[in-house]
Amino acid sequence: MTSFQKRVFSGVQPTGTLHLGNYLGAIKNFVELQKEYECIYCVVDQHAITVEQNPNELRSNTLEVLASFIAAGVDYKEQIIFQQSSVAEHSQLAWVFNCVSRIGWLNRMTQFKDKAGKNRENVSVGLMVYPNLMAADILAYLATHVPVGDDQKQHLELSRDIAQKFNNDFKVDFFPLPEPLIYGNATRVMSLRDGTKKMSKSDASELSRILLTDSDDDISSKIRKAKSDSDLIPEDKDQLQNKPECLNLINILSACLDQSIEKTLAGYAGKEYSKLKNDLADTLIQVVGPVRKKILNLLDNKDELNKILQVGSEKASTIAGPIIKEVYKIVGFK
Ligand code: TRP
Repeated sequence: MTSFQKRVFSGVQPTGTLHLGNYLGAIKNFVELQKEYECIYCVVDQHAITVEQNPNELRSNTLEVLASFIAAGVDYKEQIIFQQSSVAEHSQLAWVFNCVSRIGWLNRMTQFKDKAGKNRENVSVGLMVYPNLMAADILAYLATHVPVGDDQKQHLELSRDIAQKFNNDFKVDFFPLPEPLIYGNATRVMSLRDGTKKMSKSDASELSRILLTDSDDDISSKIRKAKSDSDLIPEDKDQLQNKPECLNLINILSACLDQSIEKTLAGYAGKEYSKLKNDLADTLIQVVGPVRKKILNLLDNKDELNKILQVGSEKASTIAGPIIKEVYKIVGFK
């Protein structure tokens, strides 16, 4: 097996303002990974249009995601941040992968089944081949490591299957089998209204999520109104299993303070929710406040953001270009 250079790739869809789940669950990790890896982070607008998008909103959401990456601490000078649609190699490799990947594999994808629901005959073809494009994103850079949340693990396995099948079909050792990098203790930030559902930009209730652009007052009021119960906070972690809302608040606080759930819980065992909620609101204001200010500052200068994207795509093409040339030779296009 060829040894591949260690390289991280990840993508975030520009489908709305990012929330605390995106931040604690993904972007904070993106920042950590820069210490150890060469990192490529992509705003995946081509994935976004697999379901209907408003073009103007798509454009502004793209800049917002970019601003959020930078505000959170992604170093756009050292690393690469760019917009998927401006690097044609993604689509070029995606087409090759459409011909490597199998319909049976795509039909088994839980996310596709969930999103298509009963409407299977009427969703876009793009929604079905979404995982092939994701494989192309990663493998156009021969990336070896992909930070993903739980919900994307199956897609990453598919990327490995595609890489493996390509290598077998063409009798080459060309693509690495990318490995997941599983996040720390805040993998899953849940809805503030229902501790069994993930915090999500598509939830009908605004109170269910904290946006990175929320004001300090919004943060306090959302945490105050977060669902809890009338008991006192339990003493040990096992008792949290059937108190998903309590677990979520403790989990968020632990992630913000970079400490274990056990340690956080010890400070609140036997106390009322109001204390936990007050402390959590204060901590979140300290964590989210500076990020919000930076995002809003960056969004004030759109020309600068567009320039950053431009430089990012040029750097990305420099890596992906020669790789796609090789792929074209392998499949017999050249
Ligand atoms: N599918 C991912 C999501 O919705 C986004 C994504 C697209 C991605 N391409 C990727 C993530 C490549 C990791 C690597 O979260």
